[in-house]
Amino acid sequence: MTIITIIGGQWGDEGKGKIIDHMAKNADVVARYSGGNNAGHTIENDHGKFALHLVPCGVGWEGTKNIIGSGTVIDPNVLIEELELIKKNNLPGKIFISEKAHLIMPYHIKLDQAEENHRGNKAVGTTGRGIGPAYSDKISRYGIRMGDLNNLEKLELKISENLKIKNKILKEIYGADEVSETDIFEKLDEWYKKLGKYISNTEQIIHDNLEKNKYILLEGAQGALLDIDHGTYPYVTSSNSISGGSLTGLGIGAKEINKVLGVFKAFCTRVGEGPFPTEIFGDEAEKIREIAGEFGTTTGRPRRIGWFDAVAAKYSARINGLDSLVITKLDILDHFEKIKVCTSYEYRGEKIDFFPSDENILSEIKPIYEEFEGWDESTYNVDSIEKINSKAKKFIKNLEKIVGIPIDIISTGPSRKATIEVNDL
Ligand code: IMP
Repeated sequence: MTIITIIGGQWGDEGKGKIIDHMAKNADVVARYSGGNNAGHTIENDHGKFALHLVPCGVGWEGTKNIIGSGTVIDPNVLIEELELIKKNNLPGKIFISEKAHLIMPYHIKLDQAEENHRGNKAVGTTGRGIGPAYSDKISRYGIRMGDLNNLEKLELKISENLKIKNKILKEIYGADEVSETDIFEKLDEWYKKLGKYISNTEQIIHDNLEKNKYILLEGAQGALLDIDHGTYPYVTSSNSISGGSLTGLGIGAKEINKVLGVFKAFCTRVGEGPFPTEIFGDEAEKIREIAGEFGTTTGRPRRIGWFDAVAAKYSARINGLDSLVITKLDILDHFEKIKVCTSYEYRGEKIDFFPSDENILSEIKPIYEEFEGWDESTYNVDSIEKINSKAKKFIKNLEKIVGIPIDIISTGPSRKATIEVNDL
């Protein structure tokens, strides 16, 4: 039995989609455990290129069971669109939706936007997809679950009750437009008709596969530094994106996980607001953004750019229990004469080598860099470690040493073939 959790080690957008697709080749189950359509996981295969927001990245492989787990939040309109895209393009994986997953309702989206406006210059920079309000309702027990679609009469009553409160908040607190009950009710039937057949007891599917010693991949969304508990709070998402979330978000026991892989870019990016110690600006940042295409998959926003932060990476390794690292976009560094890696921080004249939790300290710390020599030979699309030039190899070895975790996979381009398995997973 092999059960592997794959997480983003930074602030999301590390290229998890490609890596999960790569790892899913022989997988029996691929299960997404957190977040919603704030995520954008890109896969590229013989059928085309797809930015998946909710469906797990195993869907490109025949015979995979792709589970959207209980820890996720689902915008039914977005999922319907995604399922239609998958069908149209003949992606072969099977799809299952947890009956316990929560729905993002139209009032959650409105509230997300109203809350952000209200925060003014303290806005989180959310994706505006209703993620935070949907999770808030889950925790405060006002949530609507996928399984509720099986009884539309009862569901309408629940929605009516919720709307009394939500519309009051929208109108009286935020001065925003109310959400129409009729508009929601009109949609319910379509949601049930188009999604009902996928709604399942997904824990049962996972447990059966565990018993049969199958190969299961647990797909993280966002990144460890956006985790609601361990990220750069309050500039975080509203779920547990760290590996621990894969247990609660799918109903799996802690002893079952055999391996945790952390995906990191060879540099750093962040979308939205919040501290970013190694952030760079000007021409250097622009150059990376343009070459690497660093614009949000979900929102199209330009991503903030920075050098690799090894202090944050070590922290991420600990909170996720990482066994190995995956380094993506190594080829982007082909374009630089000098490459920087942050190995400690300076805070008010003192050197610190841990990742602080206090927002104010995080915003004040300055990165202390180690500089590495760039290389002239391209690493783009290189598919074996032997073919990587010696300077790039040296950089990889150094990164491994600094973070203290072996690098198992290196990605040198978006296509499936641009993947190097350094160690045999
Ligand atoms: P929310 O998840 O939409 O509430 O957004 C909260 C924060 O997480 C914002 O800074 C978003 O930009 C960020 N975020 C959410 N999802 C992703 C993602 O998939 N990649 C990168 N950043 C994300």
